[in-house]
Amino acid sequence: MNYLSYDDANMFSDACGALGAKRHELSDARERLEAAHARLEEIRRDGAQGFFDLPSDTKGIASALQAAQRAKKRFSTLLVIGIGGSDLAARTIVQALADREEGMQVRFLSVPDPEAVAPILADADLLKDAAVNVVSKSGSTLETVSLFLTVREALIRAVGMEKHRDQVFVTTDPADGPLNQMAKEERYEILDHPLNVGGRFSALSVVGLFPAACAGVDVKGLLEGAAWIEEKRRADKASSMPATFAALHALAMANHAQDIHVLMPYAAKLSHFAHWYRQIWAESLGKRKGNKHVGPTPVAALGPTDQHSQIQLYQDGPANKVVTFIEVAEFREELRVPKSGIPDAFSLMKGLDFADIMHAERAGTANALARARRPNGTLRIPSVSAESLGALFQFYMTATAYMGELMGVNAYDQPGVESGKQEAKLILEGLV
Ligand code: PA5
Repeated sequence: MNYLSYDDANMFSDACGALGAKRHELSDARERLEAAHARLEEIRRDGAQGFFDLPSDTKGIASALQAAQRAKKRFSTLLVIGIGGSDLAARTIVQALADREEGMQVRFLSVPDPEAVAPILADADLLKDAAVNVVSKSGSTLETVSLFLTVREALIRAVGMEKHRDQVFVTTDPADGPLNQMAKEERYEILDHPLNVGGRFSALSVVGLFPAACAGVDVKGLLEGAAWIEEKRRADKASSMPATFAALHALAMANHAQDIHVLMPYAAKLSHFAHWYRQIWAESLGKRKGNKHVGPTPVAALGPTDQHSQIQLYQDGPANKVVTFIEVAEFREELRVPKSGIPDAFSLMKGLDFADIMHAERAGTANALARARRPNGTLRIPSVSAESLGALFQFYMTATAYMGELMGVNAYDQPGVESGKQEAKLILEGLV
């Protein structure tokens, strides 16, 4: 089964003129791509980066599924508390695939915005029937911990001290950290955040899989799609899809200063996926490199909504962008515009299949961009299925890793994020 393909025709100069990559530039980059591949294999094998192997981590998968079974039996809502990499993947999975007949209602809290949080704290009925999954690898993130401590207090008020312990699932560093310590003292169930997987690379660890399973998502399907990408990566090596995607983006940056990288799914259920992408691309690749500051700026868009908004800029504004579309071959619902009772002015739309409208809009936008010499590519998935979403996650995590190697930056740290966290703490210390 082909869960994902990458159509790169419009990335090249034969489709989009002087601002596209020349075919030979990709072949010239082969040696660098091979070195990048070798380096990634090294960090995969020595365990420095664990995300490559998550799709086959049977122990981690089983523990996420078992914990979700226990939660599903006892509660009807799951409240996930986390931010950044501890939030976005689970949100993406739930938006795309949640099955309300099979699973719990899954809700998210990521920002300590009192107006968003207060209604949940005030809803004792919701809290009585809710499992709380607090997710923080470090166990010390201000937003997450402050939200958790506040929800916990409301939970204790609603169900009592003893009972609340059974409702809390803590996803954190299994060895260390203040949340881990608190979980042990309070006898909360701990779900082990893999040590060698960073937040934004944790989509297919217990971080994403526990909420996914609670939401009734086909977790095995997610992993099958991801494993398919990883198997192909190992087989195709430097010419795998994620490696080629990264090479074309690195060439666009180096040769044409095209360093704004837009992701535009033509599927409402994938709008959060574009937000997840924005984090992995920005936080992994925006870095200091000696005395230079480097990195692409990711933009999340949505088709066709943003055809009536951002596309004007992409088409006629500065030629500093690469647009990637996601096209869904088959939607899970079939809808047509009615055939009868349509005024003549709308005769073009009579009986039109909505899927055809979506496909024509994407193709039209891609062609127009290419004609305006704006490089663009299309990721195609057969449908918004668990397998294809798993493949998309693994594809982008892997492409990010290749980009990091090609750009010569460490894709796995986030010193800029850490310094912001420190500054906020200093401000708050001045308040107390
Ligand atoms: O990708 C990352 O590492 C970050 O976005 C983190 O996920 C985010 O800062 C939250 O960190 P933590 O899981 O430690 O609470």
